[in-house]
Amino acid sequence: MVDLQTQMKIAVADAAVEQIEDGMVVGLGSGSTAALMIKSLAAKIKDGSLKDIVGVTTSFQGEVLASELQIPLRAFSAVNTIDIAIDGADEVDPSLQLIKGGGACHVQEKLVASIAERFVVVVDSTKLVEKLNLNFKLPVEVLPNAWKSVLKKLEDIHGVSELRMAQKKAGPIVTDQGNLVLDVCFKNGIQNPEDLENTINNIPGVLENGLFVNLADEVLIGEIKDGITKINRLKKN
Ligand code: 5RP
Repeated sequence: MVDLQTQMKIAVADAAVEQIEDGMVVGLGSGSTAALMIKSLAAKIKDGSLKDIVGVTTSFQGEVLASELQIPLRAFSAVNTIDIAIDGADEVDPSLQLIKGGGACHVQEKLVASIAERFVVVVDSTKLVEKLNLNFKLPVEVLPNAWKSVLKKLEDIHGVSELRMAQKKAGPIVTDQGNLVLDVCFKNGIQNPEDLENTINNIPGVLENGLFVNLADEVLIGEIKDGITKINRLKKN
């Protein structure tokens, strides 16, 4: 029996895959919703309803899953453009600005989204917020030797950070690139995502932060109403 949240995720994952056409280079996001999208895409490749698809993954997780499901893959460095990228998000505000990085994959996710002709975000309705960072901390990937200096610089701009700790491993989580993650909370949330994204990325030792500003072209939001799964769409103006 599939729980309600998973039902919403499956619905948006399938709807996003509907936007993929034969011959496309597809950015494959990370996280549980993106994993459902990868499965849905693989099923369409297998039954022949999608042909000549090339995937570009954004994480170790995506690479393992897409390889197992026999989706042809190409390295990010080997593509000039991506026709469509599909990925999940941790928070989505009304202007389609996002926080990502709940799975610590935001460096590669942002690379892929940044060159995609079209970036489609797939979420369930719990991810919609009026203002970013009131409930979900902003992930910032940092060089291992810089985590303390970055933490102090973030304090200077009123960000309270914690080093993300691993589960079933002593010490911090280590990203696919071998770095660490600070999860940062700004009191009263994030006022200006664009300014903050640039300010944080200018701190020496920061690789990338999880603010995705003006990147999403469309957000597909799964909702359950009266027992029926519905998809709402927010589109970039
Ligand atoms: C990973 C991400 C994910 O897309 C984000 O955390 C959402 O994941 P899920 O679909 O499992 O809720 O940004 O870095």
